[in-house]
Amino acid sequence: MTNKSEKLIEVVNVTAGYGNNIVLRNVSLTVYSNDFIGIIGPNGGGKTTLIKLLIGQLKPFSGEVIFYTKVNGSLIGYLPQISHIDKSFPISVHEVVLSGLLEKKGLFGGYSRDQKETAFNLMKQVGIEHLKDKNIGQLSGGQLQRTLLCRALVAEPQVLILDEPNTYVDSSFEGELYEMLRKLNDRMAIVMVSHDLGTITSYVKTIACVNSTLFYHPSNQITNEQLAAYNCPIQLIAHGPVPHTVLLDHNLDSKQNNQQ
Ligand SMILES: Nc1ncnc2c1ncn2[C@@H]1O[C@H](COP(=O)(O)OP(=O)(O)OP(=O)(O)O)[C@@H](O)[C@H]1O
Ligand SMILES: [Mg+2]
Repeated sequence: MTNKSEKLIEVVNVTAGYGNNIVLRNVSLTVYSNDFIGIIGPNGGGKTTLIKLLIGQLKPFSGEVIFYTKVNGSLIGYLPQISHIDKSFPISVHEVVLSGLLEKKGLFGGYSRDQKETAFNLMKQVGIEHLKDKNIGQLSGGQLQRTLLCRALVAEPQVLILDEPNTYVDSSFEGELYEMLRKLNDRMAIVMVSHDLGTITSYVKTIACVNSTLFYHPSNQITNEQLAAYNCPIQLIAHGPVPHTVLLDHNLDSKQNNQQ
């Protein structure tokens, strides 16, 4: 089991965006090895932008993102938001899963037998092994999400980053997905964007709310005033003997925002 004090990624006072447009201001967040962080916030609030910073795909305008890469293994496994995927790319399910190993490909471009076996076992675990030779353009949304989950996991990352992994999956797989994540969290940090935190209240350990700035409450409890201030009209997450969700009053929300 890894130690809480082990830092994996650190976002330090970052301002970031696209072109001249600032999307995130003065954001700081540290991902530790046993974290399970849920990221919530309104559409366009900057959740995916924060994820792009965490995976090193976007460089900040100011501030810095520090990666504490280990000698062995890969640091990050990433499942992108499905609406951002180009499905017209002619590539099979199996190839997509294996592409998660690109960094670890052998000198002559091949995958080892162990790597292929890991990929196949993951596909079995999420029930897509029968689709292995299908082109990704022919998949349903849920099948594609399962495929991308396998790709994110195949290199056994230290941080698993998921951008809305449950948008298309059916409710039966959704339950399995969260159970799987809970087990994976014993050996890797997880950062997950979701609009549906109500159903995962017993899975995430902490919640970050992103709406241009970031509010991070380093525990699994958060007050509705705090969420409202960040225009996160989602759920009040509370853990306890009976996890429960309280829906915020949207009027309260807009009133508070107008006052800002
Ligand atoms: N590649 C890009 N170029 C220019 N602007 C972008 C780009 N990607 C995102 N944006 C803008 O940045 C803002 C934040 O977008 P982002 O995708 O981070 O939001 P989000 O919180 O993930 O939203 P959603 O819940 O809809 O996924 C939006 O206003 C969006 O239009
Ligand atoms: Mg997004």
